[in-house]
Amino acid sequence: MLNPRLSSLTAYPFDRLRALLDPVAPPVGVEPIVLSVGEPRHAPPPLVREILSEQADLWGRYPPIEGTAAFREAVADWLRRRYGLPAKLVVANDQILPVAGSREALYLVAAAVLPRTLSRPLGGAPLVLVPNPFYQVYQGAAVMHGGEPVYLDASRRTGFLPDLDAIDEATLARAALMYLCSPANPQGAVADLGYLRRAIGLAREHGFVLVVDECYAEIFDREPPPGALQACASLGGDFANVIVFHSLSKRSSVPGLRSGFVAGDPALIAAFRRLRSFGGASVGLPILAASTALWRDDAHVEANRRLYRDKLDLAQSLLDGRFGFYRPAGGFFLWLEVGDGERAALALWREAALRVLPGAYLAQADENDVNPGAPYIRMALIDSLAGTEDALRRVLNVL
Ligand SMILES: Cc1ncc(COP(=O)(O)O)c(C=O)c1O
Repeated sequence: MLNPRLSSLTAYPFDRLRALLDPVAPPVGVEPIVLSVGEPRHAPPPLVREILSEQADLWGRYPPIEGTAAFREAVADWLRRRYGLPAKLVVANDQILPVAGSREALYLVAAAVLPRTLSRPLGGAPLVLVPNPFYQVYQGAAVMHGGEPVYLDASRRTGFLPDLDAIDEATLARAALMYLCSPANPQGAVADLGYLRRAIGLAREHGFVLVVDECYAEIFDREPPPGALQACASLGGDFANVIVFHSLSKRSSVPGLRSGFVAGDPALIAAFRRLRSFGGASVGLPILAASTALWRDDAHVEANRRLYRDKLDLAQSLLDGRFGFYRPAGGFFLWLEVGDGERAALALWREAALRVLPGAYLAQADENDVNPGAPYIRMALIDSLAGTEDALRRVLNVL
């Protein structure tokens, strides 16, 4: 009765974490600190509350799936500003679509892209190339839409991004979709322009769709991470085969607003719009109004980034030289090599009431049962500076 693909999926990381930690009591009298989920805790900009309240009458209207012209223009301007895109290259109405957070869109895009089977002479299931470790939604999207995930090593050895030159021709020939994440969750690695250009080249040469998850694009340490649309522009052409995913969840610390967008190849955007008019969540008009204002403002984003940088400075001062510490170029996760991530997560919870995520839950084991995430824990730097210091000291005490 149920779709067997669903039961073939590995359990969602946070369900696995609950199964691991819930039977274990944290120490009595120690305030728990939860850094397992990438849920920002910085205060959302006040304009969110103001605009939602001003626009409250619009809750009475069904929002169009393509959002409002004002939203699409604000996003187009942000793309031009953030990535230095030529004004004419970005056509708001054809290339941008609002989504209710990037997660559902990253999932649903596979339904718009994957064929049932590959055409002859290849035949068989289309391949979906996924970095390993990865954001779990890519795997769910591939499997549930009839694709076969191919896991590309994104470990320390490869600079925490897949080695694009190591993908064999037979795999490229069967690929229908490739997910990349930059800045990467969980590793914090950033793809440079050359890397993105190479990925775009492969997608175009082999006829697959390149999805680039850029939802951490605005959370960076020193340099703004380049984007895939910027790489398209630098190749001197259009956005063919490429679609990027953005979100306000991290940029503006509003994960509950459920607001993001996709942008790129107009043919893909048109197909995605069509699919979403059947099965996508449209974004409420008051949310679109608040989101429009957020994409038009960079000051709150800079302030947000400073808070994360302060916590990175702190982490560096306390952890440098321990647990393979490195300063992630983007995102807000520490990816710490602790030997056995699951055992470390258990010890941190049992002995110090600190909740972190075992890296194994974000990665796929290979045929020899080697899981590249297994030696790691992921720790989200989402708490206050004081809370972060407390958490880091707990790590030092326990591990
Ligand atoms: C890599 C990555 N992509 C996408 C998302 C989804 O974010 P949202 O649906 O809030 O936009 C997350 C959330 O944690 C993430 O880490």
